[in-house]
Amino acid sequence: METQKNFSLKNHNTFGIEASAAEYINISSIAQLKEVLASNVGRELFILGGGSNMLLTKNIDALVLHINLRGIKIINETENCAIVRAQSGENWHNFVVFTIENDLGGLENMSLIPGNVGTTPIQNIGAYGTEIKDTFVSCEAMNIATQEMRTFYNEECEFGYRESIFKNKIKGQYIITSVDFKLSKGNHKINTSYGDITAELAKNNIQNPGISDVSKAVISIRQSKLPDPRELGNSGSFFKNPIISKEKFKEVQAKFPDIRHFPISDTEVKVPAGWLIEQAGFKGKRFGNAGIHVNQALVLVNYGGATGSEILDLSQKIQKEIFDIFGIWIDAEVNII
Ligand code: EPU
Repeated sequence: METQKNFSLKNHNTFGIEASAAEYINISSIAQLKEVLASNVGRELFILGGGSNMLLTKNIDALVLHINLRGIKIINETENCAIVRAQSGENWHNFVVFTIENDLGGLENMSLIPGNVGTTPIQNIGAYGTEIKDTFVSCEAMNIATQEMRTFYNEECEFGYRESIFKNKIKGQYIITSVDFKLSKGNHKINTSYGDITAELAKNNIQNPGISDVSKAVISIRQSKLPDPRELGNSGSFFKNPIISKEKFKEVQAKFPDIRHFPISDTEVKVPAGWLIEQAGFKGKRFGNAGIHVNQALVLVNYGGATGSEILDLSQKIQKEIFDIFGIWIDAEVNII
């Protein structure tokens, strides 16, 4: 197990930001993870997965542990469902492809989301009407301080919109090592409720879609709206869609009758941040090496050579302007380091 000093993280964050780690270790087994944690008690650690949901604004003056645990296995099966376990360093989309090739349903709407399996529960990733919490059974995690393994079941994870216990109450205390999902066998519940999917399937004349059709539709929609990080650095949605009270919404709607909204509860609605940013005139604009994606205003991009601070400044400018115009604050979804 090799420790590398002054290690460049440029190829380990999808924004493609140049920043270095004081020390870096690639972890490929549970035993290694245990050993490294036990011999670095009290030391500042930084846990790196796929690097798809972070903005590096500085070098990391800590020991970076790159979690590269690999393996996908069906661990239990009944007539109607299977429990599939993926180690946390598996690439998420490769895992989704595995499930579809094995005719296991439940993850198809989340095709092509960047990042690794182990980070998916942390922010309860979701797309096109489905979230991780819908199929997540449990995850295994190692306590950083004691190196003991613990199982977290779905109910304990306090999942919410891009939220979980791992981002809140127990932040920085555990490293997720594997995740179990309960997936359907044959009797799939196809979810095409999200307008974009219905339209994409209709365009291709597909009337009774299977999970593979839904996956293909999602891939095609994502490729048309979201930039490929290998071509244009980005971190997916930079902001969360804000959830506001119905009263606040009515106030804004009186001034901006076209505002889109999705009911969340009897008292709250979610409004699309992409719409707010587009209305504010930012969509497709470039500021130095940073910009707002031309096809999806929720995505900030690195045109090449942008620093993390440049992207952070742009995000703050957008937050301020949206607040001035609409009186709504949009929070970053990406972790700012
Ligand atoms: N919209 C605009 N202008 C834009 C972008 C969006 O007006 O530039 C409007 C659209 O017209 C639509 C609404 O906003 O009415 C929603 O747009 P879209 O379907 O593209 O989804 P989103 O709310 O912008 C969320 C997730 C995405 C996920 C999509 C599809 C968040 C923060 N983002 O985006 O997740 O792929 O829904 O389910 O919830 C991510 O988290 O990194 C991510 C890409």
